[in-house]
Amino acid sequence: MKFFVDTADLKEIRDLAQTGLLDGVTTNPSLIAKSGGKILDVIAEICSVVDGPVSAEVAATDFETMLKEGRRLAKIAPNVAVKVPLTVDGLKTCKALSGEGTMVNVTLCFSPSQAILAAKAGATFISPFVGRLDDLSQNGMSLIADIVQIYRQYDSIKTEVLVASIRHPIHLVESAKMGAHVATLPPNVIRQLYNHPLTDKGLDAFLKDWAGTGQSILGQ
Ligand code: G3P
Repeated sequence: MKFFVDTADLKEIRDLAQTGLLDGVTTNPSLIAKSGGKILDVIAEICSVVDGPVSAEVAATDFETMLKEGRRLAKIAPNVAVKVPLTVDGLKTCKALSGEGTMVNVTLCFSPSQAILAAKAGATFISPFVGRLDDLSQNGMSLIADIVQIYRQYDSIKTEVLVASIRHPIHLVESAKMGAHVATLPPNVIRQLYNHPLTDKGLDAFLKDWAGTGQSILGQ
């Protein structure tokens, strides 16, 4: 399973890239606004740090302008994945850009039927938002199960399921059990994945016992 980080914060991206576990980055207009930078500069900097796909979202809503914006974003670096919303014009843009060899991430997916359309439009990634469905008392994870099951029925579908709007580690674990290809995680959730109190407790005990031996591995 691939791990993307869902942020436009360069400091966070640099830190996480150093772990060697980061496969890509997703951004959206809200995250770019939060970064305080200009989208073209921010995406170029992220692409210089991360080799994997870096999602950059168009801001227009009509096909012609979305296509122009998508082409502009794609020119930044070969690893840019243009992000388009799941609308009629967004899917037309997806079809056009993927036909030009550009990676496309179709975002704001909330139903299996939308995911089928995105696959037909040649999306590289489909982004179903699990947390925002949970917020409405709907089951975000069952949407992932449905999309994974549907895509598996067709060898011709190459679209990867990119689980988005992840709020906690269980969303990631459930996605992995279902075989989703990618999870995009906020930085705080990535950090939570490492933690277990028994790991800390066990390590403390090992270190205490080791100190009692007076040994040094490198000193022998
Ligand atoms: O980038 C899309 C998605 O991950 C947003 O998550 O937490 O704003 O619902 P959230």
